[in-house]
Amino acid sequence: SSPEYLRYHGLLLPPEAHSMESLEYAQNFSVEDTDVFAVTYPKSGTIWMQEILPLVLNGGDLTPIQTIPNWDRVPWLEEKRLAFVVDQLASPRAMVTHFPHHLMPPSFHTSKAKVIYVMRNPMDVMVSSYYFHQMAGFLEDPGTFDEFMEKFLEGRVLFGKWTDHVKSWRHKELGDRIIYITYEEMVQDLPAALRRISDFLGRNLSEETIQKIAEHCSFKTMKANNMSNFSLVPKVYMDADKSPFFRKGVAGDWRNHFTSEQLAQFMSVISKELEGENFSLPYLD
Ligand code: PPS
Repeated sequence: SSPEYLRYHGLLLPPEAHSMESLEYAQNFSVEDTDVFAVTYPKSGTIWMQEILPLVLNGGDLTPIQTIPNWDRVPWLEEKRLAFVVDQLASPRAMVTHFPHHLMPPSFHTSKAKVIYVMRNPMDVMVSSYYFHQMAGFLEDPGTFDEFMEKFLEGRVLFGKWTDHVKSWRHKELGDRIIYITYEEMVQDLPAALRRISDFLGRNLSEETIQKIAEHCSFKTMKANNMSNFSLVPKVYMDADKSPFFRKGVAGDWRNHFTSEQLAQFMSVISKELEGENFSLPYLD
């Protein structure tokens, strides 16, 4: 399949979830000081944050994750669904976005809204995305791994270049409104990551609540949660028989996919583009 993507400020977006109206709606969105955004480049832990945020914000109450589909529970700022559910969002509102920093609405920049930026090892992002393109009917066929890698490195993929995204969110103006967390640290020690998130959001959760949330946000539990595993989506859009959305959920699956030549090429491009940045890539060794 070769669907027509929308073009928005140089980014490619699938029209199933986005429209010029939804993008304009996002641009004019009134961000509130109490809003919380989880920001991710696609395939870096978005759906995971859609499970974590309501639980952390509501002291471990399971009702939202058991009754509301993830896309309406913690909607994407840029997607069509937001306008339909905005009035029903619990307070404080939690949203996700794949936007780079400069495409956030003006009201975001002047607000005190908090941001949790989740970064994932870019090779694992690419592997996850490669399989996602095979199963998602609204995305173009990824071609061979080599072909997809070329597109990924050139940014001819959804939401553009990975390096542009991670760099854009290192913006100094964000100060202490933002914390940076990695997918890998969440895989390694989810309770510790949850403590960081809950402290940042001013929630004082007991250890018992942290453990309970960790259990409900495990890969296994989420994969079985029909409100989060995309089983409500028709097969033409997402075909779990080709590759499940909850595919592996691990750090370092790139080792099973990259040849040493591909790795060398990938790393030379990425490290050049990250020159001078003061953060390191998670789990490259
Ligand atoms: S999307 O399409 O951009 O919203 O995808 P996103 O949710 O950002 O990323 C999907 C990958 O996240 C993995 N995932 C998890 N890993 C570990 N634990 C939990 N709970 C979890 N939830 C989602 C999911 O399996 C995808 O990674 P891969 O490597 O493909 O398994």
